[in-house]
Parts: sequence; C-alpha cells; structure tokens
Amino acid sequence: MRPSTEQFILANTLLSEPPSCPEIRLFLATEVTPLWLATETQLQEQGLPPPYWAFAWVGGQALARHILDHPHRVKGKRVLDFAAGSGIVAIAASLAGAASVEAAEIDAMAISAIKLNAAANNVAVTIALEDLLDRTDCRWDVILAGDVCYERPMAEKVFGWLRSCAALGATVLLADPGRAYLPTNGLMRLADYSIACSLDLEDRLSREVTVYQIVG
Ligand SMILES: C[S@@+](CC[C@H](N)C(=O)[O-])C[C@H]1O[C@@H](n2cnc3c(N)ncnc32)[C@H](O)[C@@H]1O
Repeated sequence: MRPSTEQFILANTLLSEPPSCPEIRLFLATEVTPLWLATETQLQEQGLPPPYWAFAWVGGQALARHILDHPHRVKGKRVLDFAAGSGIVAIAASLAGAASVEAAEIDAMAISAIKLNAAANNVAVTIALEDLLDRTDCRWDVILAGDVCYERPMAEKVFGWLRSCAALGATVLLADPGRAYLPTNGLMRLADYSIACSLDLEDRLSREVTVYQIVG
C-alpha cells in the first residue's frame, strides 16, 4: 500500500533547524539526492512536482530571518506566505506575532509538510492548496514570497501578481539570491543576508540573499 503524504514526509526527512533560523524546526531532507530520487520515483506516476517542500531555500531562510528580527513588519497583521514550500516564512510570521497567517501552495505534498511543520513549531497557519495568481482581490496586509524567481514563466506571472497586490495596498516582501528571473525594476532593497547552504542544492556553501519590498 502506498504511504500517506504525511508518512512519506516523516520517513524521508528529519526534524531539523535551518542554519539561519534556529528558532524554527522543519521536516527537511538532510541529503538532496536520496529524497529527490525517492520522490521522483513515487511522485512521477502521479504527475507531482519535485520536493521543494523538503528544503529551506535560501530565499525563505533570509525572509524568515528578516521577519523574526523585525517583527513589526507582521505584528497584528494578516499575512500570506505565497509559494510557502516548507512553510518556514509562514511559521516565522506566526512566531513574530501576525494576527493571522495563510500559506499558499500548489503542491499537495507541500501542504502536508506545512501542516507537520506548523504543528512542530506550535503555531497556527491556515493552509491553502490554491493558485492565487488568477485572483484579483487581496485580503492580506502583508505578502511574503521566498525564492520564487527560479523559472521564467512562473517568475513573470508571480511578479505581476505580487505587484498588483502591492498596488492594492499590501506590503509585499520578496527574498531572492539573484536567481535568473528576478526582475530588474520595481524592487526596493531592504536588507542583505549571507545564508549557509549545501553544495548539492546551490553549488556553493553560502549565498547572498536580498530582501526587497515590491513597489507598485
Ligand atoms: C523554491 S520553492 C520556495 C519555497 C519557500 N518559499 C522557501 O523559500 O523555502 C518554490 C515553491 O513555489 C511553489 N509554487 C510555484 N508556483 C506556485 C503558485 N502559483 N502558487 C503557490 N505556490 C507555487 C512550488 O510548489 C515550490 O514549493
């Protein structure tokens, strides 16, 4: 019998602290290759994407660090972690005192991972398996997006949507390590972080990540 998504996550990850956010514990893959292969084998048949949820991406770590160190950015506010992956940014927002936190993902495995990770940190996160990019309303005060500029069509669509939310009045923060499809305008630099990472995942041992505010 095929394991449930929760069983699969628990069997293939370890509860561990991302290097830049030791306050947060996440079910993460300790080595890239075995999990990537395991998920590829299991998930390919179901047409599901690679296990982005099993890693604390450098963008998410920098954004989570920024929120933990500057809680006023989210305190008492309605917050969305867009493209949440493991949910690291949503968890940071909840720990920093947000009034409510939603995490949006289009990957069903990520939804299960965020549930497990939120529970491991004793925080409340509302989780939506939904593509928000076609929505024209914006019910959040703050939108946070970590590491979303790694594929051209996605980055263009995501950035357009984030910019429209900023124009509707939301504060939109994006963290990026200089990925290929980061837009060159409409961004105000807020802070820089040096984030430790694995050679497997990033081809180097640390990356410089910038937290930007999107200006409408
Ligand atoms: C590189 S991961 C970053 C995850 C997390 N933000 C972090 O920094 O650790 C990108 C994530 O974006 C998600 N994603 C891609 N398109 C999306 C969309 N339209 N809506 C929500 N999530 C999306 C993917 O499933 C993946 O988990």
